[in-house]
Amino acid sequence: MRLIRGKKVTIIQYQGTVNRKQREKLAGHRSMVIWFTGFSGAGKSTVAHAVEERLHQSGFRTFVLDGDNVRSGLCSDLGFLPEERCENIRRISEVAKLFVEAGVVVLIALISPFRSDRQKVRNLLGNNDFVEIYCKCPLDICEQRDTKGLYQRARKGEIKEYTGISSPYEEPLQSDLVINSDKYSVEESVGMVMTLLADKGLRIII
Ligand code: ADX
Repeated sequence: MRLIRGKKVTIIQYQGTVNRKQREKLAGHRSMVIWFTGFSGAGKSTVAHAVEERLHQSGFRTFVLDGDNVRSGLCSDLGFLPEERCENIRRISEVAKLFVEAGVVVLIALISPFRSDRQKVRNLLGNNDFVEIYCKCPLDICEQRDTKGLYQRARKGEIKEYTGISSPYEEPLQSDLVINSDKYSVEESVGMVMTLLADKGLRIII
């Protein structure tokens, strides 16, 4: 029994007969979450999609959850205040957990600027199913790239609470991989991620 907005709610979960292990067996590989964090413009989406392409071509069942896209649907009611980012990350991590149960390799590209939120994701998914990759790129380079023109607007004060400008980014202290994305090509970055994933036991089981 839980209290939701002061009202008692009772939920008893249904236990299906097909489980994660069986879905993974059918897929031919284990499932897991690959979480990319970093500034806007640091290359999270680019690398996540390039890794997805490599995995897909190799026969893995994959899906990318990208902040900009998820914020158009599931999280379209959320802005960028710390508590809204927290809720954004909570929802997406719960979706990621479902994908893991479904036997899919899920790649997440979210700024996810706060350590406490990223720690909650790690706690929810567990160390075995979760890898954190920090796309590390100096702010001035992200700002120069400014592919969406949002940094310029944030500097002018037109966009409030912009990560790196008027809202903090807390660097990861325990990432599984740091990609200095200003120094490496997309191809090199994909190679680093693939090596990490192989170390984590991601392979096709025939
Ligand atoms: S997070 O902080 O909640 O993880 P998320 O990754 O979903 O952020 O969304 C970030 C994207 O939203 C950025 O790539 C950028 O295009 C856009 N955006 C719009 N406003 C902001 C803002 N105030 N801070 C950061 N990103 C913003």
